[in-house]
Amino acid sequence: SIVPTILCGGAGSRLWPLSREMHPKPFIRLADGQSLLQKAFLRGAMLPDVKEILTVTNRELLFKTEDDFREVNGNKIGTSYILEPFGRNTAAAIAAAALHIAKAHGEDAIMLVLAADHLITDQQAFADAVKQALALAKQGKLVTFGIHPAAPETGYGYIEAEGNHVVRFVEKPSLEKAQDYLASGRFLWNSGMFCFEAGIMLQALEQHCPEILAATAACIEASRLAEGKGFSQLDLDPDGFRNVPDNSIDYAVMEKSDRVAVIPCDIGWSDIGSWSALGELTNCDDQGNRIIGEALLHDVSDCYIRSDQRLVGAVGVDNLIIVDTPDALLVADKSRSQDVKQLYATLKAQG
Ligand code: GDD
Ligand code: MG
Repeated sequence: SIVPTILCGGAGSRLWPLSREMHPKPFIRLADGQSLLQKAFLRGAMLPDVKEILTVTNRELLFKTEDDFREVNGNKIGTSYILEPFGRNTAAAIAAAALHIAKAHGEDAIMLVLAADHLITDQQAFADAVKQALALAKQGKLVTFGIHPAAPETGYGYIEAEGNHVVRFVEKPSLEKAQDYLASGRFLWNSGMFCFEAGIMLQALEQHCPEILAATAACIEASRLAEGKGFSQLDLDPDGFRNVPDNSIDYAVMEKSDRVAVIPCDIGWSDIGSWSALGELTNCDDQGNRIIGEALLHDVSDCYIRSDQRLVGAVGVDNLIIVDTPDALLVADKSRSQDVKQLYATLKAQG
């Protein structure tokens, strides 16, 4: 069997004000009414042979997460949690999950790490890719899912691939390098999903970042575990977790390991990183406006307008992002949507 492991952290600061510390990006609902987190849950739950889904998230988000899952968990798949007192990045989250799963289900249990905030539109192609990944994972590989790159994005990992073989993995290269990689035609984007045996990941952590593995193991020793039928909840001890070095799995393991393999895939993947990317998911009208909620427009074009409650009026503007929520209103130039994170950083600094 295979245990989908959803990583749900990261504030999604570029999607402020809809994404907040207590309402991060995975909880944002798309036009079809489902949240990104619910979509991630279903993505795992719809695979064959899945009995349980493990979610690693902040303990403050547990109830929200449970609410989201309850809404979509029709066939009552088991839901287990590892609860973090604060974020220590993806290496720690994956180390905790691998230790937990190896103990509960054995070292050869297969984990499928899924991000809580991505969109995958072709579930069938995704299921096919997972099937291929499973075969390689059983051979001891750390399997990544590679996406054909569309632009020299610097926020992604790049995988130089020859078939399923990985020549090298480069996390978040410079723009010059990303441009070279794209031009060479030999590179794929790392989608941020992984498939491997729990025991193989533990070996890789031991080899490449033993401090992270040791500190996480010590933390789990000091943590509270509650278990029931088809359910477990591990509440990570804050003092122990504070000792775990902060690093991403991409830098800590994937760049260094020679066990990395890749499944090139075309699954309709997007990492909805900014308002302009999220906007692309909504159909536009003849003037290029994309509207969620109610808007009254005159001479307005190429705008993305989202309002949860109030009517938005706009006159004579173009290329704007307007997002209205009960306690905050965002107005931004569309070409600057990456910079919305600056507002978030300022707010956070102000406490
Ligand atoms: N539980 C938990 N705890 N989850 C976390 C934490 C944490 O401390 N930090 C991040 N996550 C979750 C995020 O919610 C997201 O679902 C996933 O782990 C990846 O983290 P990001 O912070 O979004 O990583 P990234 O976007 O910078 O880069 C990763 O994803 C790219 C694709 O979107 C890398 O894997 C890149 O190589 C990859 O291209
Ligand atoms: Mg991301």
